Amino acid sequence: MTETLLEVDDLVVAYPRKGLRAGATEILHRVSLAIEPGRTMGLVGESGSGKTTLGRAILGLAPVTGGSIRFQGRDIAHASRRERIALARDLQVVFQDPYTSLNPSMEIGRILAEPLENQRIGAAESRARVRELLDRVGLPSDAISRQPREFSGGQRQRVAIARALALRPKLIVCDEPVSALDLTTQARVLDLFLEIQQDTGVSYLFISHDLDVIRHISHDVAVLLHGDIVEQGPSLQVTGQPQHPYTQRLLLASPLPEPDAQAQRRAERRRLREEERIEGAERRTAP
Ligand SMILES: Nc1ncnc2c1ncn2[C@@H]1O[C@H](COP(=O)(O)OP(=O)(O)OP(=O)(O)O)[C@@H](O)[C@H]1O
Ligand SMILES: [Mg+2]
Repeated sequence: MTETLLEVDDLVVAYPRKGLRAGATEILHRVSLAIEPGRTMGLVGESGSGKTTLGRAILGLAPVTGGSIRFQGRDIAHASRRERIALARDLQVVFQDPYTSLNPSMEIGRILAEPLENQRIGAAESRARVRELLDRVGLPSDAISRQPREFSGGQRQRVAIARALALRPKLIVCDEPVSALDLTTQARVLDLFLEIQQDTGVSYLFISHDLDVIRHISHDVAVLLHGDIVEQGPSLQVTGQPQHPYTQRLLLASPLPEPDAQAQRRAERRRLREEERIEGAERRTAP
């Protein structure tokens, strides 16, 4: 049996309140999920549900106030700066916005060599690896001496993916990595993620508000609502026969290509909304 790569158990993230009022605002309430080697966990939910916060907690960028985050068997929820640098070999990130996540005035070659140098990998090896990475993500080798501003959004996201891959990580947290791209580019970059996983066996925590994207890329799916996971399971099950009304609504909100199917969905969406309204009213008037 393979060892679980990432295990998040009863994770609580709370931000301290600003100003004189004491206490904290809890964003994630006892969230649990697990990612196996070579697998993708899709994390879906509406804006503000806490998707980015969960990704940031795993990366050590959000305040963990309860529970644990085990990576390759070790609890990393409170890892020190030094431990984080070592962890960067195995745990990487791709952010949503390829325009702000890459230094616009740095040559691509330098951007890709930086993580290698941080891990004290020699110049010759590093140069060879950078060429390999460009090839891997489908960028021309002359990109080495060019700057991100010379590239389109999709190409920049390829650079960000190459940078994340530089150290051959075991897990990449991908926070809406295709949301800023047009639909055609989205499909190509998603295919790149899939190819890379097939070649390298890397795992992804893949965050998106778009259930179609999630369905395309994920083995398993977790649905986040106001800081709670309301549904979790194999992708086919969660996106095909969702159990929770919230997931059902998310599914109906993602557009379908055929107008007939869309009309049917609109009707279904209205019915569910109505049901939720009645249920809510019943709850409010219940003794
Ligand atoms: N640094 C912070 N301090 C206080 N509250 C924060 C902080 N960062 C995020 N939050 C709050 O946490 C909640 C969840 O935010 P988060 O960014 O994780 O949502 P999300 O699901 O990623 O949304 P989106 O789809 O818009 O990216 C929001 O209510 C947000 O205001
Ligand atoms: Mg977010």
